[in-house]
Parts: sequence; C-alpha cells; structure tokens
Amino acid sequence: MIALGCDHGGYALMQEVIKYLDQHHLEYKNYGCNGESVDYPVYAKKVGHAVADGECEKGILICGTGIGISITANKIKGVRCALCSDCFSAEATRLHNDANILAMGGRTLGPELAKKIVDIFLNTEFSGDERHVRRIAQIEEE
Ligand code: RB5
Repeated sequence: MIALGCDHGGYALMQEVIKYLDQHHLEYKNYGCNGESVDYPVYAKKVGHAVADGECEKGILICGTGIGISITANKIKGVRCALCSDCFSAEATRLHNDANILAMGGRTLGPELAKKIVDIFLNTEFSGDERHVRRIAQIEEE
C-alpha cells in the first residue's frame, strides 16, 4: 500500500501519479488534498505517520517544490523521505538509503519524468549492503 499526500502546488502532478498507479494496478491510500489551498505540513505528517506506523510500505508526497513537504516528513522517526528530480537519485536513494517516501515538486517536474521517477522508486529494492545498513542505522542515532 502506498500513501499519497500533496498540497495545492502538487495536486496536478499527483493526478498524473495516480493515473500511473491505476494503470499498474498498484494500491494506494490518498490522504489528500483535493486541490484547495492547504498547508503542506498537514499532508506530510499524515503520510509520514502512515509509513512510520507500518500502515503503508511507501509514500509519495508532492508540494510545489517538494522541499517543504520532505523537510516535514523527515522529522518523523523512521521516515526517510527523498526529494528527487532525476532518475539516478530515485534509484540511488532506494539502493543506498532505503528511502520509504518519495517527494517531488509539482512546479519543478513534468509529468513524464515524474512518472519515470515514481516507477524507479517503486521498483528498486534496497541493496541490503552492510555499509548502507550501518549508515541508515546511524541516521536514527543522536
Ligand atoms: C505553496 O505555495 C508552496 O510553498 C509549497 O507547495 C511548497 O513548495 C513548499 O515547500
């Protein structure tokens, strides 16, 4: 199950992501918004908690730039939210960081690149390499 959340700056791109998920018969839970002007931290927290609590395996968050929504999500323990604007980063953050939430910018990315980034993010497994496991554990340390 994939948790989805966006603000008004990410709403249009999220509709494209939803089309991709539907076409690939992937299950998702949409936490909003519905296109109205909203505060992105509300949606970042809904999706962040859904992933951190294990209700959803992964999440996708979109605001205007992807910045505010990713900063907020990363404050939740257990969330590793990666803001990606290119395919290399989407692959690397799964392989190296085991990122569990993808953030994107609705005002910075076109729909085709965004859908490719989503595809890579959802279909790349964590490498499981010892050095990456060790580094991820260090993220949670004080
Ligand atoms: C909303 O206007 C905009 O500030 C928001 O979508 C996002 O870009 C914040 O980081």
